[in-house]
Amino acid sequence: MTETRSYPRDVKTDAGEIEFRLMSREDEALVLNFAQKLPTHDLLFLPRNISQPKVLSAWIHEIERGEITSLLAVKNGRVVGCSGLVRDGHSWSPHVGEIRMVVSVDVRGQGVGRALCQETFALALGAGLEKLSVQMTVDQQAAIALFESLGFKAEALLRDHVRDLDGKTHDIVVLGHNIARVQAQLEAFGLPEAVQKS
Ligand SMILES: CC(C)(COP(=O)(O)OP(=O)(O)OC[C@H]1O[C@@H](n2cnc3c(N)ncnc32)[C@H](O)[C@@H]1OP(=O)(O)O)[C@@H](O)C(=O)NCCC(=O)NCCS
Repeated sequence: MTETRSYPRDVKTDAGEIEFRLMSREDEALVLNFAQKLPTHDLLFLPRNISQPKVLSAWIHEIERGEITSLLAVKNGRVVGCSGLVRDGHSWSPHVGEIRMVVSVDVRGQGVGRALCQETFALALGAGLEKLSVQMTVDQQAAIALFESLGFKAEALLRDHVRDLDGKTHDIVVLGHNIARVQAQLEAFGLPEAVQKS
């Protein structure tokens, strides 16, 4: 697949016009401000706490090395969402990408998450990835509903897998999307373009 996305691009949502653009080192302060306002519970799906400046700096380093592609959703100059597409080309899963995303509490339920998810999905298609995974705590109903509506299915439950700052553990659900298989099915029905346009 060769689809390429150009950024920045503007998307209309119920939260108003949102600019989507690729994240870079210049965005560090804006993203830190965004991350520090998020409820800690909403960060438990991430391997590390991005509200800590050191962790954020390491993330940007991974973007610079090409291991993560991150998109920002920006409203009137303020970051209201961000996503990451994580790959490891040196692992046994070079064909797999992990999607991570989070949206500001004050704009949730207005379509920003869906638009960000679709953009990130499109990036994964453009990168030729064959499978996507996503993980979240089991109580993140909106996230689960959003990814299931895009064809992701539950693949694993990791019990007591993360521990919050109060010492309480939470279960993690892993959802997967086998893009290659879905695309093969669509081609069998004569709809090869449908996945790329989603
Ligand atoms: C998941 C998340 C990014 C969604 O962002 P959002 O901007 O609220 O998403 P949207 O408004 O585009 O809603 C997307 C879908 O989520 C579902 N949804 C939204 N709010 C919901 C709620 N309160 N309860 C159940 N489902 C809900 C709906 O299915 C909605 O689909 P629709 O477009 O048909 O209405 C946001 O809730 C979030 O940041 N959660 C915490 C972080 C997290 O767990 N991330 C998942 C790991 S990748």
